[in-house]
Amino acid sequence: MAKPKVFATHSLFESARQILQETCEVEYWAKPERPSREEVLQRVEDQEGLVCLLTEKINDELLHAAPKLRIAANVAVGFDNIDVAACTKRGVAATNTPGVLDETTADFAWTLLMAVARRLGEAEALARSGNWKNWNLDQLVGTDVWGKTLGIVGFGRIGRAVARRASGFQMKVMYTDAVRAPAEVERDLRAEFREMNALLAESDFVSLHVPLLPETRGLMDAEKFHRMKPTAFLINTSRGPVVDEAALVAALERGKIAGAGLDVYEKEPLIHPGLKRPNVVLAPHIASASLETRTKMACMAAENVVAFFKGQRPANILNPEVLKG
Ligand code: GLV
Repeated sequence: MAKPKVFATHSLFESARQILQETCEVEYWAKPERPSREEVLQRVEDQEGLVCLLTEKINDELLHAAPKLRIAANVAVGFDNIDVAACTKRGVAATNTPGVLDETTADFAWTLLMAVARRLGEAEALARSGNWKNWNLDQLVGTDVWGKTLGIVGFGRIGRAVARRASGFQMKVMYTDAVRAPAEVERDLRAEFREMNALLAESDFVSLHVPLLPETRGLMDAEKFHRMKPTAFLINTSRGPVVDEAALVAALERGKIAGAGLDVYEKEPLIHPGLKRPNVVLAPHIASASLETRTKMACMAAENVVAFFKGQRPANILNPEVLKG
């Protein structure tokens, strides 16, 4: 029997290619730059499977261009780029890569948190510039991390992994979420539940770990920044549109908050020019970008595709109702 045809919008990693090749005939996008929308729409025409990145919108337009498509496997845990309802309507399975990137993403939330608190961006620029004249008592003084209060917004796998790291810094940890965590989780992570407004008022660092949903879009708006301490920092490794970027810029300009560490943006790859300030540390959406984790993500997406074409249930199916039997 002919192998199902699959298009991967990235060359992935060797180990993921190995997984795919036993079951599928795969065409890879091998160029270093991302394919244009037109390119993707053209390439999917004949394909039964698609391995995609979060830069591809899997919506009605794409599904229309890919009449033979049966599965779209996202190499990301966040799947706001996929219109799951539209996939379901056409009987197309959709999958993501949860779990494998939690610890790596939590590490990076901490990287941003410490970098912005201790002014690493400014310090690095000075050290490289040749303008560092001498040690000075008040040079690049930042803010302590240890002993402070960490507020986690969204207490899922990644939010909890961020909380776990706080104990080494002797921090007080609080979290908010639509659903309160079980008592043993709160106890193990020494995390106290707070309503959103109380968390914002008490935290020295507010770290976002919610998925992008209609109810979380623009969650951090002008009113929320107003509730934060003027000495507090915002950390965002979730999705850009969770933050109203114009409101964040205004809050930074007016000193409503002390700074921000950002990995994600409202209109990636564009970064609001008002965010390019010394008290903001910026990264280009790399929180899960360790070789180990990105390899695991690619393999997980590949395994989802292979399972599907073998007639098995993909481990990370988002719309199981499309599976037969
Ligand atoms: C990355 O942003 C992901 O959702 O995996």
